[in-house]
Order: sequence, then C-alpha cells, then structure tokens
Amino acid sequence: MKTLITNGTVVNATGVASADVLIDGETIAAVLAPGSALLGFDVAANVDRVIDARGKYVIPGGIDAHTHMEMPFGGTFASDTFETGTRAAAWGGTTSIVDFVVQYAGENILDQYQLWHQKAAGNCAIDYGFHQILSDVQDSSLTAMDELLNEGVSSFKLFMAYKGVFLSDDGQIVKAMQRASENGALMMMHAENGSVIDLLVQQSIARGDTSPYFHGTTRPWQAEEEATHRAIMLANLTGAPLYIVHVSAKQAVEQIAIARDRGQNVFAETCPQYLYLSLEEQLGASSEQWGDFEGAKWVCSTPLRSRAEGHQHHMWQGLRTNDLQIISTDHCPFCMKGQKDMGIGDFSKIPNGIGSVEHRMDLIYQGVVMGEISLPRWVELTSTTPARMFGMYGKKGVIQPGADGDVVIYDPNGHTSIGVGEGRSHHMNMDYSAWEGYEIDGHVDTVISRGKVIVDDNSYLGTKGDGKYFKRGLSQYLI
Ligand code: URP
Ligand code: ZN
Ligand code: ZN
Ligand code: ZN
Repeated sequence: MKTLITNGTVVNATGVASADVLIDGETIAAVLAPGSALLGFDVAANVDRVIDARGKYVIPGGIDAHTHMEMPFGGTFASDTFETGTRAAAWGGTTSIVDFVVQYAGENILDQYQLWHQKAAGNCAIDYGFHQILSDVQDSSLTAMDELLNEGVSSFKLFMAYKGVFLSDDGQIVKAMQRASENGALMMMHAENGSVIDLLVQQSIARGDTSPYFHGTTRPWQAEEEATHRAIMLANLTGAPLYIVHVSAKQAVEQIAIARDRGQNVFAETCPQYLYLSLEEQLGASSEQWGDFEGAKWVCSTPLRSRAEGHQHHMWQGLRTNDLQIISTDHCPFCMKGQKDMGIGDFSKIPNGIGSVEHRMDLIYQGVVMGEISLPRWVELTSTTPARMFGMYGKKGVIQPGADGDVVIYDPNGHTSIGVGEGRSHHMNMDYSAWEGYEIDGHVDTVISRGKVIVDDNSYLGTKGDGKYFKRGLSQYLI
C-alpha cells in the first residue's frame, strides 16, 4: 500500500514546511515538494491512496513515554488494559507508548518482563516499548539490567517514595546508577522523599484531615525538591544519566536547571495535569455526587500543586527553556466506583493516578494556541524528544525518509470536546474524565501507524494487535 499525503503543512521539531509525504508499506519513502512532482514523475498518479491535508498539520505520531496499562497498584489494577489504553491513545494521535514493567520487592525481574510481554502481545493498537521498574536493587538486578538492555529495555525507574512497596534507599539507588554508568542505561526517578511523606500522611489522618485535598498537602514541594536534588547528586557521584519523571514543583525544575547548567546529563518530563490543574481547584473540589471526595479524581503522585504558588506557570517556562524536555501523561487510570472509592475516609488508600493518554496531543496543542510554546516545540515535546531520549529516533519521532509511517493529520481549525458526559464519550476505560468539559481547539483527524490508517474521520479502523513491540536502543539525547 502506497499512501500520499498532499497539501499539508509538515511540522517536525526542526521546523515547518509545505510538503507532501509518501508512505510506502510501513515506511516513509519520501518528503516531496508540494505537488508531489519528482523529476517529472507524477507520484500522485502512482499511489493507492491520496489523503488531502490542506489546511492541516502533518506531524510525527505522538510518543507517550510514561504509561501504566493494567498496572497492579494500590490494591487494584489500572483500569485500562493494553488493548483499551493503546486504542484510546490512537484516538488521540499517539502512535507509540513506553510502558513500565513492574517489579515489586522479591519478584524476579526477567519473569516480570516476560509477563508484561504476555499482557501486551497481540493486544495493542499502536507500537509499544518497555521501561523496567526496579524495587529492591540486588546483585541479580544488576545482571538483569544488562540482559534487558539486549531486549531493548534501556531505561530503569527507581522510586524514592512508597516505602515497603517500591522505595529504594540511597545505597540501592547508587548501586543501580553505578551499573547504568557502565552499561549506558538511562535511570528514571520518582523523586519524592517517601519517609517525610509517610510521616505527614500519618499525622494528617490522625488529625482527621482525611479528604483528597490532604493528599496534596502531605506531599509538599519540599519533598519533591529535596528528592530531586538528592537524585541529581547520586547521579553526579556515579556518572549515570538521570531522567526525573512527572515533575510538578517549580523548585524541582530549579534543581534540574542547576544540574543541566553544570553540564550534567539530567533530564525531566512533566505531564498535562501539572500544566493545567491545581491543588485548590481539583484536589479541593467537591460535588453533589462525591462531596469533598470529588478530589480523588485527581489524586496522583507527584500531586497537583498550588496555583497560588505558581507551579503551573513555571512548568510552561521550563518547557520553553528546555529544562523540561518531554511531556508524558503518566497514564494510570482508576475508576471512581470500585477503585478510587477505596479511599473514602482515608485519602492514603486512594489508588494514585490520572488517565490522559487519549488527550495529551490535544492538551499540549493548547500551549500553541495560548502562545506558551511554538508549533515545532509541540512536536518536539510530545514526539521527537521522547524518541531521542528513549532510543527510538529515526524510526519514530520524525517525518523523514526511512522513518516508520507513524503520521497524524491534525486539524488546527477543528474542535475537541473532552469528557464522558453527553456527546463526549472518551475511549479510555474510566468512569470519569480528569478533563471533563474541556472544549478545545484542534482535532486529530487521521492517525496512521506504520502505514496503516487506524483512525480517520472519527472512526477507529485498526485491529487489536496492529501494535508491535519496539526494541529500543540507548538514549540518543545524552550530552
Ligand atoms: O500517581 C501516579 N503517578 N501513579 C503511577 C505510578 C507512578 O508513580 O508513576
Ligand atoms: Zn512515579
Ligand atoms: Zn508513573
Ligand atoms: Zn477534524
């Protein structure tokens, strides 16, 4: 199958151009001058399908480098399976995810890795890769890191929070980082001081401050800044490259900026929720249905932060200055009924996570509409840098000959209504939306995954199993 996308505006991280894109089979074969003339040869007359993208952007498919499909967490499982979650991602213009294989203390890392393949294989709508979570760093974890690198797992997430669940102590962190500095892996860090948070949570519950709002107040920015600083110092000590996940505090961005200015390989992502939502408006919300438990919809970690303190504004600033390089969702959805409601009367029992995998491209496009970021920067933050950071670039993250035919046709004059209410039903397996009622500019018109049209004109045309495992290389973003 040969597909030609004509009359569109091709947006790469490097710039914007009027160009036609020819996809042959699964691969982009050519980026042509408008009119598709190639040495007098009429390309349009020799393809199977022509898609007219006049007035629209033609962008590399989105890459969400932080998702948790069916993650076992908080006594339950994230409500999107690989099937439902990747299909929802496709609807929103994301054509690749990198999901996290979970290892709890005592579990065998390589067994867990195989288990995640079993969950994903044959079920995904779009291509997928894996990061590996390491919980208790043993000598066997270090050899597993080497083995997983050969499998295309080149990044490993550690946690400085969730004691007894995921938390690694500083010695364990250093041990894993030492190995990463030798084998080239990228260390990812959940940077929050878990001991401090556990104490504040206990004290809050004992005082009777049990509603979701206090999830935010018991995970203060100081706990994020301190852990971010500590992670940076441990990475500095060992020489390992470091990627901080889900940054929400402006003070954490400052720590990252200091490290980067010193020339250290320190990188970071933020997520849509930290750009738009807040402690006051969301965690502090109440409704007729849920009372002050309404805020549970937005319980995630790191938490939504105070708008009065200006964190949201600083995240946009960090995205402009490249102190933050990537926007992922940290997609970890739970339903209110039967999942989040386990925490009624005790916010610490609310499963942590928000689901946004479907809406990331649209939500971040609003940054272009509002003048916070440029059009190429939108593509860079949501596709090109994730591809480079996680060893996928060339195949993913760019519209150029030889790249996979992962292409989204985005209509800047279109409109998207987000939510689960009347006329809005999203495709994620959640009984609410963290973005209910968002009426926003822009619309994902057509999604092509390795040359196959999987979404077009508000219809899903793909089949489960279209998505294949992507064996990643080492990071292509290091200094
Ligand atoms: O609240 C969150 N972020 N849930 C997912 C697990 C994690 O820490 O990323
Ligand atoms: Zn985390
Ligand atoms: Zn996460
Ligand atoms: Zn449209």
